[in-house]
Amino acid sequence: MSQQHSAADPAPTSALATAPRGDWWRDAVIYQVYPRSFADSNGDGMGDLEGVRTRLPYLRDLGVDAVWLSPFYASPQADAGYDVADYRAVDPMFGNLLDADALIRDARELALRIIVDLVPNHSSDQHEWFKRALREGPGSPLRDRYHFRPGKGENGELPPNNWESIFGGPAWTRVEDGDWYLHLFAPEQPDFNWEHPAVGDEFRSILRFWLDMGVDGFRIDVAHGMVKAPGLPDIGDGDQLKLLGNDVMPFFDQDGVHDIYRQWRLILDEYAGERIFVAEAWTPTVERTANYVRPDELHQAFNFQYLGTHWDAEELRKVVDLTLEAMRPVGAPATWVLSNHDVTRHATRFANPAGLGTQIRSAGDRETGLRRARAATLLMLALPGSAYVYQGEELGLPDVVDLPDEVRQDPAYFRGAGQDGFRDGCRVPIPWTREGSSYGFGEGGSWLPQPAEWAELSVEAQTGVAGSTLELYRSALAVRRAEPDLGAGDSVEWLKAPEGVLAFRRGEFVCVANTTAEPVTTPAHGRLLLASGEVAETDGEARIPADTTAWWTTA
Ligand code: NOJ
Repeated sequence: MSQQHSAADPAPTSALATAPRGDWWRDAVIYQVYPRSFADSNGDGMGDLEGVRTRLPYLRDLGVDAVWLSPFYASPQADAGYDVADYRAVDPMFGNLLDADALIRDARELALRIIVDLVPNHSSDQHEWFKRALREGPGSPLRDRYHFRPGKGENGELPPNNWESIFGGPAWTRVEDGDWYLHLFAPEQPDFNWEHPAVGDEFRSILRFWLDMGVDGFRIDVAHGMVKAPGLPDIGDGDQLKLLGNDVMPFFDQDGVHDIYRQWRLILDEYAGERIFVAEAWTPTVERTANYVRPDELHQAFNFQYLGTHWDAEELRKVVDLTLEAMRPVGAPATWVLSNHDVTRHATRFANPAGLGTQIRSAGDRETGLRRARAATLLMLALPGSAYVYQGEELGLPDVVDLPDEVRQDPAYFRGAGQDGFRDGCRVPIPWTREGSSYGFGEGGSWLPQPAEWAELSVEAQTGVAGSTLELYRSALAVRRAEPDLGAGDSVEWLKAPEGVLAFRRGEFVCVANTTAEPVTTPAHGRLLLASGEVAETDGEARIPADTTAWWTTA
């Protein structure tokens, strides 16, 4: 007897669908909303908090546990909100504090957690402290809250050291009175001096402000960057920073950052309701990443090693093992992530030859990319720990690789070298409907142009359609809630599999991912739960097509 199963099989329903779970974050699926590009409620072409609030039921139905919102604070938007002028205010472009409050309350009603972004490494150059520091001139006590220094050279015309900005160019800018200030990112993002007690006091107060507002946690931006090596020494041997950096650098991953997190953890633990921190920490090794999630520090750290892994069984297996081994001793859950607002979407990364990095300007073979992206998602959601989903990946969106230069806003793009700067391609507003000036994103167009073919990738076009990527995500997340072995624990039991195929068991659950360009035949492992393509079963054997992942249960 031969049976065909696909993503369209009805999703099991779960009693947990609306009830918050204990230790929820250990296996949570956390959905990243990029507020500019999610939903625009007032027709100004820019997404906003009210837009997010009205779409919360969509996220509840998708089946995620929590929503992480990229920054929506008062900001001149030199780096899309990662340049904060006032940490306690909502930028008018996104709404106001009442909108934030309404969003947090509605989310709670829907049993969705809200995680907000915290940007402690740098502020905006329009932050009150920095503006005063500039105004008051050399010797102003406000300058000590940032890294102001005289320059080198006869007339101080050279930067104080040889550090380069992640966005390209020197990490120092000279101000009119002759001093230089440090900015690891854009010049509009001066780095705080975390040696100054006022900085720590201020951020502990900001944490409390948002905890009192009712948020469930914080994603910490550049969590590895706040503490710099004493004396701000030059980088040795002319090593220069590539991408977001996993080389050893005097401004990243310094041991002192851990003291900050131990203090923050005490504050978080004063609040009821299992609130969490997740670190954006780029470190040289997964072992160094594990330091951020020791029991008295943060809860999770993004697994960028996984994000950077190619669609290759051997590489994937290695990074899964390394991750689980690194996290086990500290008792933190592993995390898994394929896309975010800083990298080319995985449907496009996997459409291109391996080895091009995470900033790609070519569409590649879109069909292959989507097939692999769907398979990669089922693989990710089968691993123990917590998983991150970036808005639009559930629609199978590719990166927009052909944005005209005049619409681009990524500051890294305009600074040339450094990080490649093609991040606008993954930030294009997502399509909700087939029709409308911005495919349902809003009534007034969108701040970055959307490709016409996105009409057919919209939520409307995919809802209820057998085999659509959106229905695959919905089914996968429903299965994950219903199957206790999925997400839980800290290990996988690898099963023997042909070359290019990953197979593992977790309790009664079995996942098989075929990363090759050819179909493979493997044993059928009980009842097929879900697959990213058409899996045919005959007499105890399963034929898994190229670039396809399948889930079984032996229960
Ligand atoms: C990491 C954020 O994800 C990125 O978007 C931003 O440009 C830098 N940190 C600087 O804040």
